[in-house]
Amino acid sequence: MSARPENAPVPTRLDDYRAPAWRVDTVELTFDLGIDSTEVVARLHLQRDPAQDQPLRLDGEGLELLAIALDDHPLDAGAYRYAENVLEVDGARDGSVLETRVRLKPAENTALEGLYLSGSREAGFLLTQCEAEGFRHITFFPDRPDVLAKFTVTLRADRTRFPVLLAGGNPDGAGELDDGRHWARFVDPHPRPSYLFALVAGRLEKLERDYVTADKRAVKLVMWSEPNVIDRCHYALDALERSMRWDEQTYGRNYDLDVFHVVATHDFNMGAMENKGLNIFNAKYLLADPDSTTDDEYRGVEAVVAHEYFHNWSGNRVTCRDWFQLSLKEGLTVFREQSFSADMNSAPLKRIEDVALLRRAQFTEDAGPLAHPVRPSEYREINNFYTATVYEKGSELVRMIAGRLGREGFRRGMDRYFERNDGRAATIEDFLDALGSANDIDLSPYLAWYAQAGTPRLKAHGRYDSSRREYTLTLSQHTPPTHGQPHKQPVPIPVKLALFGQDGRMLALHLDGRAASQGNEAVVILDRAEQDFVFRDVDQPPVPSLLRGFSAPVILECDYTPKALALLLTHDPDGFNRWEAGQQLAALAFDALRDGTGNAAVDAWCGALSALFSGESVDAALLADLLTPPGELVLADRQLEADPSRIHELRRVLQQHLARRLGAEPLYQRYRTLAAQTTIDLDAASQASRRLKRCVLELLAMVDPERAYMLASSQYDQAPGMTDRLAALGVLVRAQAPQATTALAHFRARYDDNALALDKWFMVQAQIPGEPALERIKALESDPKFTLKNPNRARALLGVFASANPSGFHRADGAGYVFFAERLAQLDALNPQIAARLATAFNGWKRLEPVRREAARLAMAHLLARGDLSRNLGEILGNMLQD
Ligand code: TRP
Ligand code: ZN
Repeated sequence: MSARPENAPVPTRLDDYRAPAWRVDTVELTFDLGIDSTEVVARLHLQRDPAQDQPLRLDGEGLELLAIALDDHPLDAGAYRYAENVLEVDGARDGSVLETRVRLKPAENTALEGLYLSGSREAGFLLTQCEAEGFRHITFFPDRPDVLAKFTVTLRADRTRFPVLLAGGNPDGAGELDDGRHWARFVDPHPRPSYLFALVAGRLEKLERDYVTADKRAVKLVMWSEPNVIDRCHYALDALERSMRWDEQTYGRNYDLDVFHVVATHDFNMGAMENKGLNIFNAKYLLADPDSTTDDEYRGVEAVVAHEYFHNWSGNRVTCRDWFQLSLKEGLTVFREQSFSADMNSAPLKRIEDVALLRRAQFTEDAGPLAHPVRPSEYREINNFYTATVYEKGSELVRMIAGRLGREGFRRGMDRYFERNDGRAATIEDFLDALGSANDIDLSPYLAWYAQAGTPRLKAHGRYDSSRREYTLTLSQHTPPTHGQPHKQPVPIPVKLALFGQDGRMLALHLDGRAASQGNEAVVILDRAEQDFVFRDVDQPPVPSLLRGFSAPVILECDYTPKALALLLTHDPDGFNRWEAGQQLAALAFDALRDGTGNAAVDAWCGALSALFSGESVDAALLADLLTPPGELVLADRQLEADPSRIHELRRVLQQHLARRLGAEPLYQRYRTLAAQTTIDLDAASQASRRLKRCVLELLAMVDPERAYMLASSQYDQAPGMTDRLAALGVLVRAQAPQATTALAHFRARYDDNALALDKWFMVQAQIPGEPALERIKALESDPKFTLKNPNRARALLGVFASANPSGFHRADGAGYVFFAERLAQLDALNPQIAARLATAFNGWKRLEPVRREAARLAMAHLLARGDLSRNLGEILGNMLQD
């Protein structure tokens, strides 16, 4: 087979890490910006590692080299070589200055990595994306995170076309040039890796605010966007200010430049990017207004603004030695964001949301052919490793450690981590070391968590001895093998627990071997394959509430009876565990429906929820979550040979049981009460009531569809904001109700010029379940507003279809796979990062029933056989098909 060389590159291995032979002390960059052609002059002040005798080698991809000089002498053609993305230069010494001039073509860059154009040629603007290895698409450089340099950046461009010129760091002068051109300079006093470089140039509008840090630095906070949407930046600006205060109060971390710029773009591969002093955001995570943004999306904006801001310390001031350490910044920053969001909103709801995401995205990843450790040991394409495992599981690991150290101990450890590693490129070991040594605790056992793929199974078995009044809890762990890791070792698993009496009250805990009583809640750590924990003075056989707050990212296997789960669902004061008991009970009910093994679990689930539904004790938002059974992807994980259409059907049957038990009339009455309270406010109570209203409407549609569609239709017409409007539209469209057509046409016309709202129009239709989905997707592709070139749009239609609509995508005839594989090939030619990411939708293929499994395999194998795929997509498909 004649694969392109980059299709089968040698993998990069953690064990092969070598410190750089050449570093860059300072770099001066000058850009002459243009849409079709941009010239970049780079002056690198080089440092040689005397211990290594290596020629100067710099990364550079797709660069047109116009000039090169060493120590101000132009180089002869024989004195350098540029091949296979490496520039090798002869004669460089310690202290040498290398100057290169290259040409880039931003308008031709559809991969959205390096320097590219966002929007149209006429109105769009130029921007950069450098993480992880985009800087080499801009200039020659040792493009690796352990080379920290001081950056001075000068931008020059036509003033009318590019009135705003921005780069990271502090502003350091600006002025006029000839021919209607102008310039602006930025200097960053903090040495930083190349992946944090950024520039933006174009016609942008701003929203600004003065901020004074706790340590008294005056900072200008500036949000930038295209002029027509600048009014939608207020919420993000508020969220930024909240994040800055929170990091000062919680971690004692202050911002460290005079300006903080944030720019919104509609053309972006991921969520956002933490470039030093110049964050760049996918507009989806920056723009917000009630008319086009749902409650969930508002929380998404707040979370991502916080995430990128927190990177200024966890990522930028302390960066990663190499990309294997990615979770050092991402896992930690996700954890910091989760704690912040929990403080700003409802902590239990945030936890439920995060764990649901972990299960949906990370547990499924860990159970499939793409499973990898939080710190992988090798990769071919680093962009493929910005995964749920590195981010979400990585955050869970930090959470376990934080829990182990306690609030004050964790803060002490973090202070030490920042102190020791400030201005450095660090490793996971540095992190554990700082946290451990500040608390005199050896955290090295947690390294096993970072090195092992797969989700550990935690087995719990309880025995009550009435004569001794003792309860013995036996905990054991087992991690199933993953590719390349046949044998797993035990990891430390903190299990936060409580015991409940049969009346639903928590019992006082007297854990054998511990001096004092533990109150009602204790944490035990299972760090061996199996261990017993004995509780004394227990008067009755208790019901254990385990892994409270989801104290470890494991799958709990406990032989709970439906009755015991119903007791926890009804009584557990830990909001998370109450939800968790409900999820487990719903899963048991699902299994029983599937296997025809009786109604005990279904009755217990519906009975407990119906009591909670008619009572007043549960907050509306939590109630909505309790009433929602696990999603189809999570349910599929319980099957060895999954049939997604059957799972979809059974889940609906389960919901119908619940709806019938709650009753059509009570559901209707509750809907009316909630509808009467409708506001457009963003406070917790208003959000909670919208959330419950949506859930009630969905359940009503299960038992009284006619009435539910009428209510949905008028909710659509009268909705004061996007949350209610989209909820109503979703009910109509997913059910293919007669009223759906008018509502869709109305939505399409109303939001014709609002890209983020229009994405939702595509998304909601991509979720039509079952057979009809594919035809609809194909029809939507010919909508004039559909394009593969815009990642948000491609994700909205194709990504949602393949990843969030199992019964639509996994057709028994395989047509979903064939269609999707064709689109992946087209996307890959434009934007390999997006193609590779969407391809992970095939992740669960090995656990499909045989007919679909074979169809999926064939579609992937055909695609891979093309031989012209990018390294990104090639690696994903290659891993997907490995045995
Ligand atoms: N570092 C970014 C974050 O998590 C994510 C990121 C990595 C990214 N690579 C990217 C964003 C490429 C956009 C494009 O905050
Ligand atoms: Zn991040």
